[in-house]
Amino acid sequence: MKIVLGRAADALNRLGLGDAAFRGFQRLQAWGASSRVTGLPPAYLRVLTAGSPDPGAFVHVGQVAARTFMALAETHGVRLSAEDEILDFGCGCGRVAGPLAGMTPAALHGCDLHQRLIGWCRANLAGDFVVSRPTPPLPYAPGRFALVYSVSVFTHMHEPQAAGWLAELARVTRPGGLALLTFLDERLPGGAALEPRLSAEGFVVRREGAEGSNLLCGYFTADGLARRAAPHWTLLEHRPSDLSGIGQAIAVLRRS
Ligand SMILES: C[S@@+](CC[C@H](N)C(=O)[O-])C[C@H]1O[C@@H](n2cnc3c(N)ncnc32)[C@H](O)[C@@H]1O
Repeated sequence: MKIVLGRAADALNRLGLGDAAFRGFQRLQAWGASSRVTGLPPAYLRVLTAGSPDPGAFVHVGQVAARTFMALAETHGVRLSAEDEILDFGCGCGRVAGPLAGMTPAALHGCDLHQRLIGWCRANLAGDFVVSRPTPPLPYAPGRFALVYSVSVFTHMHEPQAAGWLAELARVTRPGGLALLTFLDERLPGGAALEPRLSAEGFVVRREGAEGSNLLCGYFTADGLARRAAPHWTLLEHRPSDLSGIGQAIAVLRRS
């Protein structure tokens, strides 16, 4: 089913109709699952952030990501206290920020381009959530955060945009702090289809014309991401998409 939808999206994108059709598809997905689930964002907001209205998957991925990020921070020597601050870059409607807030004494911040998603976070979650701009800078002082994480955001960026945000996240992270970034890799069917170019270049974009939409997918190899993150970041570890538990690869980067 995913492959068929992917091919349909490719075809619509070639015709220049990708974004409009995708928005219609998202509305339909939400409409088909419109019943409210207590404590969770409405179906349309779940579709916007998670690509599906499925409440079980929303909760599961959020919890696994939050637990994995806390364990990775500990493993790499970032022990968070009440004086520390964490940033969720592109937080959506708090799929990860919601569960993570209860797992750390640190103060949680989230930013996103989308007013409605941030509105839901502000009304329902612990933390400080702001609407940010599509290009740097973020509204935070240099070196403010001990930990920055971002789920399914670098997955929808062109290369220059990704490079700009890697530098900006470095600016707001303190030296020695960590960034935990999810990315699409060569082990996913979409990435495998881009081989051997993906291995050779370390980054390839699919559905190039759909900038600003989740239809555009940027695939990295871990080496390709590490090269683009330098000199601000050093790659400490990476979990491939099939082993991460959240369906995307995770890069653990240390701020130089
Ligand atoms: C696929 S959703 C993932 C949301 C959330 N991280 C999650 O995993 O549930 C991508 C999110 O990134 C946000 N986003 C994309 N580019 C951004 C940017 N430059 N600055 C802030 N947010 C951005 C989008 O508005 C969207 O909410």
